[in-house]
Amino acid sequence: MTRRSFLATSGLAGVAPLTNRTGRVSAARPDPFELGVASGDPAPDGVVLWTRLAPRPLADDGLGGMPGGDVTVEWQVAEDQRFARVVRSGRSITRRADGGSVHVEVNGLRPGAEYFYRFKAAGHLSPIGRTRTAPAPGVAAPFTFAAASCAYYEHGYFTAYRRMADQHPDLMIHVGDYIYEDSAGDDEPVKIVRRHAGGTCLTLADFRRRHAQYRTDPDLQAAHAMAPWAVTLDDHEVENNWAGSHSGKPDIPGFAARKRAAFRAYYENMPLRRPALQPNGRLRLTRRIPWGSLTNVHMLDTRQFRSDQPCEDGLRTGCDERMDSKRVMVGAAELRWLNDGLRSSRATWNVLAQQVFLAQRDHRLGPGLEMALDGWDGYAADRARLISGLMASGARNPVVLTGDVHVAHANDLLTDFDDPDSARVGVELVTTSISSDGDGYNDPVSNAAIRTENPHIAYIDQRRGYVLCKADATQMRAEFHTLPYISRKGAPDSVSAVFTIADGARSLGRTT
Ligand SMILES: [Fe+2]
Repeated sequence: MTRRSFLATSGLAGVAPLTNRTGRVSAARPDPFELGVASGDPAPDGVVLWTRLAPRPLADDGLGGMPGGDVTVEWQVAEDQRFARVVRSGRSITRRADGGSVHVEVNGLRPGAEYFYRFKAAGHLSPIGRTRTAPAPGVAAPFTFAAASCAYYEHGYFTAYRRMADQHPDLMIHVGDYIYEDSAGDDEPVKIVRRHAGGTCLTLADFRRRHAQYRTDPDLQAAHAMAPWAVTLDDHEVENNWAGSHSGKPDIPGFAARKRAAFRAYYENMPLRRPALQPNGRLRLTRRIPWGSLTNVHMLDTRQFRSDQPCEDGLRTGCDERMDSKRVMVGAAELRWLNDGLRSSRATWNVLAQQVFLAQRDHRLGPGLEMALDGWDGYAADRARLISGLMASGARNPVVLTGDVHVAHANDLLTDFDDPDSARVGVELVTTSISSDGDGYNDPVSNAAIRTENPHIAYIDQRRGYVLCKADATQMRAEFHTLPYISRKGAPDSVSAVFTIADGARSLGRTT
């Protein structure tokens, strides 16, 4: 099947009811599938299917126009997009307490296979989603995945999500800032292209409505409908620069309740497995997604367990506290979990999907250091522990995926960033934003100066886009995809840089 034929029959082009048990589709009742469909966390035998019923997505109470009481949602998984070969089906109940969300953990599927899924509720059929299962353990199937972060709705269109979908990847990895909790004021330096409904998210209703608004975006719906996603959050799903139990703004009370609301809304709106939302209201986002014998994707959480940022949050010079060995980014328990997984991993590629900049970056050109303390530079001792664990584990080919900074980077990771000749640990691919900070720019002169200051940084680009990686047994090809604008719809996609990481090299090799 070509991508075009799938798009033509998916919800993107308006889905026709292909098989319908009742033999009719109600036109009288509003469509509850305004937020589209999604799938996630693929395993060799199954995947999570998601939808959220919201006939009125922007309803003030965050409930999307859901009626009271139980609503039955039927689901089907088929081998073909016409649903002639349905292999799994069932029903799920959702209610207002779930925010109308549906999470179906399907199993009994074949490994390494493509499937199509859809839902039915209130006399309506949902758009059709495409998904796939992971290859069987031991199978070294080639693997294509895309990485994205930072989609500020007000700053631009989500064309980059659409272009990711156009690539037809096996897996989409989102490393955070899927929504933004705040809304632009009149003094915003970036052009406001479209408006959030509501101001700053504080309550469960606010967060539910914000997620619903994002999910009405057709480009985002297309990206979810094309492939399974693996997601982890960063700060803006809750509040700018929050850290563990600490609000980013110490003067705002009620942070614990706000975080709990944000976590709940995040779970409700993501294709996560049910244990991701724990009974204590926390999220469990650390998990592994093995892709046969070729790749192990280790999903990290660098927000929930970290110490507060040192010396406040921004760019700082002369902050000795950032070196304090007691301060943690992920902490002992998560590091133990990661190291155990790295040691036992037999995968050719070990992808660490995480949020904030891992490599050292000196923002001051010339003498002296200036560092962004919300990233790993603010947690230097925990970074040293992470890197020594990576080296000691013997895990092959570490590839770190990062978001947050709204600028694409390709970095070599070193055992000592102040010594360019120190041992290579692996590579870091930093995906730029989908839309945050608007159209962006590319300034080769200033980028060259930054790279002279930081020789382990091989590439920088301030435009919008995403990273696409194609892995096989001998190499990983990392393409940086760039859009010329997002303040208007429909921008084309071009590849602005390609790095070919050879098996065993632990280092970037520039191709174009
Ligand atoms: Fe961001």
